[in-house]
Amino acid sequence: MQVTSVTSGFVPSLQEICHDMRQPVASVFALAAAVLAEPGLSQAACTRMDEIIKQAEWLADLIQHALHTTVPGAPGSCRSDLLSVANEAVAAECVTWVGEVKLVASAGPVYTAVHPVLLRRMVANLLSNAMRAAGPSGRVTLQVGQEEGSARLCVEDTGPGFGKIQKGLGLGLAAVLRDAIRHGGRLECGNGTGGGARVSLTLPIASTHSPADDAYAEFCGYSGHAWAAE
Ligand SMILES: Nc1ncnc2c1ncn2[C@@H]1O[C@H](COP(=O)(O)OP(=O)(O)OP(=O)(O)O)[C@@H](O)[C@H]1O
Ligand SMILES: [Mg+2]
Repeated sequence: MQVTSVTSGFVPSLQEICHDMRQPVASVFALAAAVLAEPGLSQAACTRMDEIIKQAEWLADLIQHALHTTVPGAPGSCRSDLLSVANEAVAAECVTWVGEVKLVASAGPVYTAVHPVLLRRMVANLLSNAMRAAGPSGRVTLQVGQEEGSARLCVEDTGPGFGKIQKGLGLGLAAVLRDAIRHGGRLECGNGTGGGARVSLTLPIASTHSPADDAYAEFCGYSGHAWAAE
Protein backbone atom coordinates (compact mmCIF):
# COMPACT_ATOMS: atom_id res chain seq x y z
CA MET A 1 0.00 0.00 0.00
CA GLN A 2 1.27 3.44 -0.91
CA VAL A 3 1.11 6.18 1.72
CA THR A 4 -0.04 9.39 0.06
CA SER A 5 -0.17 11.87 2.94
CA VAL A 6 1.16 12.32 6.47
CA THR A 7 -0.72 14.29 9.12
CA SER A 8 1.79 16.74 10.55
CA GLY A 9 2.13 16.82 14.34
CA PHE A 10 0.36 13.46 14.73
CA VAL A 11 1.27 11.65 17.94
CA PRO A 12 0.27 7.99 18.21
CA SER A 13 -1.89 7.20 21.24
CA LEU A 14 -0.57 5.20 24.18
CA GLN A 15 -2.97 2.44 23.17
CA GLU A 16 -1.54 2.29 19.66
CA ILE A 17 2.02 2.10 20.99
CA CYS A 18 1.05 -0.61 23.51
CA HIS A 19 -0.74 -2.48 20.75
CA ASP A 20 2.46 -2.54 18.67
CA MET A 21 4.66 -3.41 21.65
CA ARG A 22 2.89 -6.76 22.07
CA GLN A 23 4.79 -8.34 19.18
CA PRO A 24 8.35 -7.67 20.46
CA VAL A 25 7.32 -8.79 23.95
CA ALA A 26 5.85 -12.01 22.54
CA SER A 27 9.15 -12.48 20.68
CA VAL A 28 11.08 -12.16 23.95
CA PHE A 29 8.93 -14.97 25.43
CA ALA A 30 9.48 -17.15 22.34
CA LEU A 31 13.23 -16.54 22.28
CA ALA A 32 13.56 -17.17 26.01
CA ALA A 33 11.65 -20.44 25.65
CA ALA A 34 13.98 -21.45 22.79
CA VAL A 35 17.06 -20.71 24.91
CA LEU A 36 15.66 -22.70 27.86
CA ALA A 37 15.10 -25.65 25.52
CA GLU A 38 18.79 -25.70 24.49
CA PRO A 39 20.56 -28.80 25.81
CA GLY A 40 23.33 -28.35 28.37
CA LEU A 41 22.31 -24.89 29.57
CA SER A 42 23.97 -24.15 32.93
CA GLN A 43 21.85 -23.69 36.06
CA ALA A 44 23.04 -20.06 36.32
CA ALA A 45 21.94 -19.33 32.74
CA CYS A 46 18.53 -20.95 33.40
CA THR A 47 18.05 -18.75 36.48
CA ARG A 48 18.92 -15.61 34.48
CA MET A 49 16.53 -16.63 31.70
CA ASP A 50 13.76 -17.06 34.28
CA GLU A 51 14.49 -13.52 35.50
CA ILE A 52 14.33 -12.20 31.93
CA ILE A 53 10.96 -13.94 31.50
CA LYS A 54 9.68 -12.36 34.75
CA GLN A 55 10.63 -8.89 33.46
CA ALA A 56 8.91 -9.60 30.13
CA GLU A 57 5.80 -10.77 32.02
CA TRP A 58 5.71 -7.47 33.88
CA LEU A 59 6.06 -5.59 30.59
CA ALA A 60 3.21 -7.68 29.17
CA ASP A 61 1.04 -6.85 32.21
CA LEU A 62 1.77 -3.13 31.78
CA ILE A 63 0.81 -3.32 28.11
CA GLN A 64 -2.41 -5.23 28.78
CA HIS A 65 -3.35 -2.82 31.56
CA ALA A 66 -2.80 0.19 29.28
CA LEU A 67 -4.84 -1.45 26.51
CA HIS A 68 -7.78 -2.31 28.77
CA THR A 69 -7.44 0.50 31.25
CA THR A 70 -11.12 1.48 31.58
CA VAL A 71 -12.26 -1.91 32.88
CA PRO A 72 -9.59 -3.28 35.26
CA GLY A 73 -8.20 0.08 36.39
CA ALA A 74 -11.41 1.63 37.70
CA PRO A 75 -11.12 2.56 41.42
CA GLY A 76 -12.71 -0.06 43.65
CA SER A 77 -13.10 -2.58 40.85
CA CYS A 78 -10.06 -4.62 41.90
CA ARG A 79 -8.24 -5.95 44.91
CA SER A 80 -4.53 -6.61 45.42
CA ASP A 81 -2.17 -7.49 48.22
CA LEU A 82 0.20 -4.62 48.97
CA LEU A 83 2.71 -6.98 50.58
CA SER A 84 3.09 -9.32 47.62
CA VAL A 85 3.13 -6.41 45.18
CA ALA A 86 5.92 -4.79 47.27
CA ASN A 87 7.87 -8.06 47.22
CA GLU A 88 7.55 -8.31 43.42
CA ALA A 89 8.57 -4.68 42.93
CA VAL A 90 11.63 -5.11 45.19
CA ALA A 91 12.73 -8.23 43.28
CA ALA A 92 12.41 -6.43 39.94
CA GLU A 93 14.20 -3.23 41.04
CA CYS A 94 17.04 -5.25 42.58
CA VAL A 95 17.97 -6.55 39.12
CA THR A 96 19.43 -3.10 38.41
CA TRP A 97 20.28 -1.81 41.89
CA VAL A 98 23.02 -3.24 44.11
CA GLY A 99 22.26 -1.50 47.42
CA GLU A 100 20.67 -3.07 50.50
CA VAL A 101 16.88 -3.48 50.67
CA LYS A 102 14.86 -4.48 53.71
CA LEU A 103 11.14 -5.22 53.61
CA VAL A 104 9.42 -5.17 56.99
CA ALA A 105 5.87 -6.53 57.15
CA SER A 106 3.89 -5.89 60.31
CA ALA A 107 1.06 -8.16 59.14
CA GLY A 108 0.26 -10.79 56.51
CA PRO A 109 -1.49 -9.82 53.28
CA VAL A 110 -2.81 -6.25 53.17
CA TYR A 111 -5.55 -5.97 50.56
CA THR A 112 -6.22 -2.66 48.86
CA ALA A 113 -8.90 -1.74 46.33
CA VAL A 114 -6.34 -0.97 43.63
CA HIS A 115 -5.58 -2.95 40.48
CA PRO A 116 -2.36 -5.00 40.97
CA VAL A 117 -0.64 -3.53 37.90
CA LEU A 118 -1.40 0.03 38.97
CA LEU A 119 -0.34 -0.72 42.56
CA ARG A 120 2.95 -2.19 41.37
CA ARG A 121 3.59 0.87 39.22
CA MET A 122 2.98 3.09 42.24
CA VAL A 123 5.30 1.04 44.48
CA ALA A 124 7.97 0.83 41.76
CA ASN A 125 7.99 4.61 41.36
CA LEU A 126 8.56 5.17 45.09
CA LEU A 127 11.20 2.45 45.17
CA SER A 128 13.14 3.71 42.17
CA ASN A 129 13.26 7.23 43.65
CA ALA A 130 14.50 5.83 46.96
CA MET A 131 17.12 3.63 45.31
CA ARG A 132 18.36 6.50 43.15
CA ALA A 133 18.58 8.71 46.25
CA ALA A 134 20.35 6.06 48.37
CA GLY A 135 22.91 5.25 45.67
CA PRO A 136 24.61 1.87 45.15
CA SER A 137 26.06 1.74 48.67
CA GLY A 138 22.89 2.95 50.39
CA ARG A 139 19.94 1.26 52.03
CA VAL A 140 16.19 1.32 51.36
CA THR A 141 13.65 0.10 53.91
CA LEU A 142 10.03 -0.66 53.09
CA GLN A 143 7.38 -1.08 55.75
CA VAL A 144 4.08 -2.63 54.81
CA GLY A 145 1.15 -2.85 57.19
CA GLN A 146 -2.24 -1.61 58.29
CA GLU A 147 -2.73 1.62 60.19
CA GLU A 148 -6.03 3.10 61.37
CA GLY A 149 -7.97 0.90 58.98
CA SER A 150 -5.81 1.77 55.96
CA ALA A 151 -3.11 -0.06 54.03
CA ARG A 152 0.23 1.67 54.42
CA LEU A 153 3.58 1.52 52.63
CA CYS A 154 6.51 3.59 53.92
CA VAL A 155 9.68 3.80 51.87
CA GLU A 156 12.69 5.22 53.65
CA ASP A 157 16.19 5.63 52.23
CA THR A 158 19.66 6.68 53.35
CA GLY A 159 19.95 9.37 50.68
CA PRO A 160 20.42 13.14 51.22
CA GLY A 161 16.75 13.87 52.02
CA PHE A 162 13.58 14.66 50.12
CA GLY A 163 14.08 17.06 47.20
CA LYS A 164 17.86 16.93 47.45
CA ILE A 165 18.57 14.62 44.54
CA GLN A 166 19.07 15.30 40.86
CA LYS A 167 15.76 15.78 39.08
CA GLY A 168 14.55 13.35 36.44
CA LEU A 169 11.47 13.91 34.29
CA GLY A 170 9.33 14.67 37.33
CA LEU A 171 6.55 12.31 36.22
CA GLY A 172 6.65 9.48 38.78
CA LEU A 173 5.55 11.03 42.06
CA ALA A 174 2.80 13.14 40.48
CA ALA A 175 1.33 9.98 38.96
CA VAL A 176 1.49 8.14 42.31
CA LEU A 177 -0.19 11.09 44.05
CA ARG A 178 -2.93 11.32 41.40
CA ASP A 179 -3.66 7.57 41.59
CA ALA A 180 -3.59 7.56 45.40
CA ILE A 181 -6.17 10.38 45.51
CA ARG A 182 -8.27 8.73 42.78
CA HIS A 183 -8.51 5.66 45.01
CA GLY A 184 -9.28 7.62 48.18
CA GLY A 185 -5.73 7.44 49.54
CA ARG A 186 -2.90 9.89 50.16
CA LEU A 187 0.86 10.36 49.75
CA GLU A 188 3.14 12.03 52.29
CA CYS A 189 6.70 13.06 51.47
CA GLY A 190 9.30 14.15 54.00
CA ASN A 191 12.37 12.94 55.82
CA GLY A 192 12.92 10.08 58.23
CA THR A 193 14.83 10.28 61.50
CA GLY A 194 18.07 9.27 59.71
CA GLY A 195 17.91 12.29 57.38
CA GLY A 196 17.01 10.41 54.19
CA ALA A 197 13.62 10.71 52.51
CA ARG A 198 10.57 8.95 53.90
CA VAL A 199 7.60 8.63 51.56
CA SER A 200 4.34 7.08 52.81
CA LEU A 201 1.52 5.82 50.65
CA THR A 202 -1.83 5.23 52.35
CA LEU A 203 -4.67 3.43 50.58
CA PRO A 204 -8.08 2.18 51.65
CA ILE A 205 -8.31 -1.44 52.68
CA ALA A 206 -10.35 -3.62 50.34
CA SER A 207 -13.20 -5.63 51.80
CA THR A 208 -12.27 -9.29 52.42
CA HIS A 209 -14.30 -10.44 49.46
CA SER A 210 -15.91 -8.42 46.71
CA PRO A 211 -17.16 -8.90 43.17
CA ALA A 212 -13.90 -7.14 42.29
CA ASP A 213 -12.12 -10.46 42.92
CA ASP A 214 -13.61 -11.74 39.69
CA ALA A 215 -12.08 -8.85 37.72
CA TYR A 216 -8.77 -9.49 39.47
CA ALA A 217 -8.85 -13.22 38.72
CA GLU A 218 -9.78 -12.47 35.13
CA PHE A 219 -6.85 -10.07 34.77
CA CYS A 220 -4.39 -12.54 36.33
CA GLY A 221 -5.71 -15.16 33.93
CA TYR A 222 -4.55 -13.27 30.89
CA SER A 223 -1.29 -11.90 32.31
CA GLY A 224 2.08 -13.56 32.49
CA HIS A 225 2.74 -16.96 30.95
CA ALA A 226 -0.44 -17.12 28.91
CA TRP A 227 0.25 -13.79 27.25
CA ALA A 228 1.10 -13.49 23.59
CA ALA A 229 0.66 -10.89 20.87
CA GLU A 230 -2.38 -11.39 18.66
N1 LIG B 1 13.58 9.29 47.77
C1 LIG B 1 13.75 10.56 47.44
N2 LIG B 1 14.80 11.28 47.93
C2 LIG B 1 14.97 12.56 47.59
N3 LIG B 1 14.14 13.26 46.80
C3 LIG B 1 13.09 12.61 46.27
C4 LIG B 1 12.83 11.24 46.57
N4 LIG B 1 11.70 10.89 45.91
C5 LIG B 1 11.29 11.96 45.24
N5 LIG B 1 12.13 13.01 45.45
C6 LIG B 1 12.00 14.37 44.93
O1 LIG B 1 10.76 14.52 44.28
C7 LIG B 1 10.99 14.87 42.92
C8 LIG B 1 9.86 14.32 42.07
O2 LIG B 1 9.95 12.90 42.01
P1 LIG B 1 9.47 12.17 40.70
O3 LIG B 1 9.57 10.72 40.91
O4 LIG B 1 8.17 12.72 40.30
O5 LIG B 1 10.48 12.69 39.61
P2 LIG B 1 11.90 12.17 39.20
O6 LIG B 1 12.26 10.91 39.90
O7 LIG B 1 12.82 13.33 39.35
O8 LIG B 1 11.66 11.84 37.65
P3 LIG B 1 10.89 10.59 37.02
O9 LIG B 1 10.24 9.83 38.11
O10 LIG B 1 9.89 11.20 36.10
O11 LIG B 1 11.94 9.82 36.31
C9 LIG B 1 12.37 14.34 42.59
O12 LIG B 1 12.95 14.96 41.49
C10 LIG B 1 13.07 14.63 43.91
O13 LIG B 1 13.42 16.00 43.99
MG1 LIG C 1 10.93 9.25 39.95
